[in-house]
Amino acid sequence: MKLVIASRNPKSAKFPITLELNGTPGTIRTSDVNKAIQQKFPVYYPDRQRLTTEDKKPLHVEKSLQEQGIEENATIYFKDLGAQIGWRTVFLIEYFGPILIHPIVYYLPKLFYGSSFVHSRMQTATFYMVVAHFIKRELETLFVHRFSHGTMPFRNVFKNSAHYWLLSGINLAYWVYGPWFAQGRNAAVRSDVWLYGCVAVWAWAELSNLMTHITLRNLRPPGTRVRAIPYGYGFDLVSCPNYFFEFIGWSAVCFLTTSWSAFLFNIVATGQMYIWAVKKHKNYRKEFREYPRNRTAMFPFIA
Ligand SMILES: NC(=O)c1ccc[n+]([C@@H]2O[C@H](COP(=O)([O-])OP(=O)(O)OC[C@H]3O[C@@H](n4cnc5c(N)ncnc54)[C@H](OP(=O)(O)O)[C@@H]3O)[C@@H](O)[C@H]2O)c1
Repeated sequence: MKLVIASRNPKSAKFPITLELNGTPGTIRTSDVNKAIQQKFPVYYPDRQRLTTEDKKPLHVEKSLQEQGIEENATIYFKDLGAQIGWRTVFLIEYFGPILIHPIVYYLPKLFYGSSFVHSRMQTATFYMVVAHFIKRELETLFVHRFSHGTMPFRNVFKNSAHYWLLSGINLAYWVYGPWFAQGRNAAVRSDVWLYGCVAVWAWAELSNLMTHITLRNLRPPGTRVRAIPYGYGFDLVSCPNYFFEFIGWSAVCFLTTSWSAFLFNIVATGQMYIWAVKKHKNYRKEFREYPRNRTAMFPFIA
């Protein structure tokens, strides 16, 4: 069959082009068109292409052209999304920020504060908790999560990483490991109940967060993009218990440190997760007719 590939940019020098594909609209899928465009212009690998119909409906990679109302000699619109990077790589880069920044600030106080001092128990506990949290996230990214999305534009890495590198990296490390919280300063004094209580709540929240990630993983057979209704620990109350436990973990860090920098990070992170949770909750209800009605989005019994 023949297809015209046009660009919405009238100044495009490369488009329109005409493609000759082997097959019929019933047998040719969007992914075949992606590959044919790549053959003509190798720089446009499939993840970099966005194909839409005339009325701007995005074409589904796995669907046939016929299923999407595209017939012989039709025009498909092409958009270059720019250089792409894998989602998994983006996550690995994001979490690497705090893993790098916290030890630097913690072990080189003279460089950042101009003096040496002995860290308080609160500072040491926070240091291990934060680094352990982000190592856990790196390991989950590598070995637990089964992502459905392939890539995103490379320039987004900077935007996405800023949240972690700046807010939970530089901001948190600088304000928590400073001399004002060092050993011997009143601001750093924590009773055993306070210290161990916060660490225990944090450890429970991290483990619970891991359990919900394993539940999500087990919903999706390897190599697929299958989505299903999650049940079990946490999911019986809310649609996104992973976000809820993340919020609890960081709240424990807030109460342990009493640093405004931890509260700032937690408020921004929780605000973002809540917006996503509401969206995911609505999608679950739309996607699955049998979706349990008693769940809230992120906070049990509240919202
Ligand atoms: N502190 C912060 O600022 C902050 C912010 C955001 C996230 N986080 C942490 O990062 C973790 C991951 O975040 P996320 O936004 O990627 O979580 P998410 O959307 O819940 O996804 C986690 C994984 O489960 C998959 N998944 C989700 N729902 C599924 C379903 N119904 N069926 C099959 N698979 C499903 C996702 O695949 P898809 O690729 O299809 O989505 C993804 O691989 C969070 O749980 C939290 O611990 C922290």
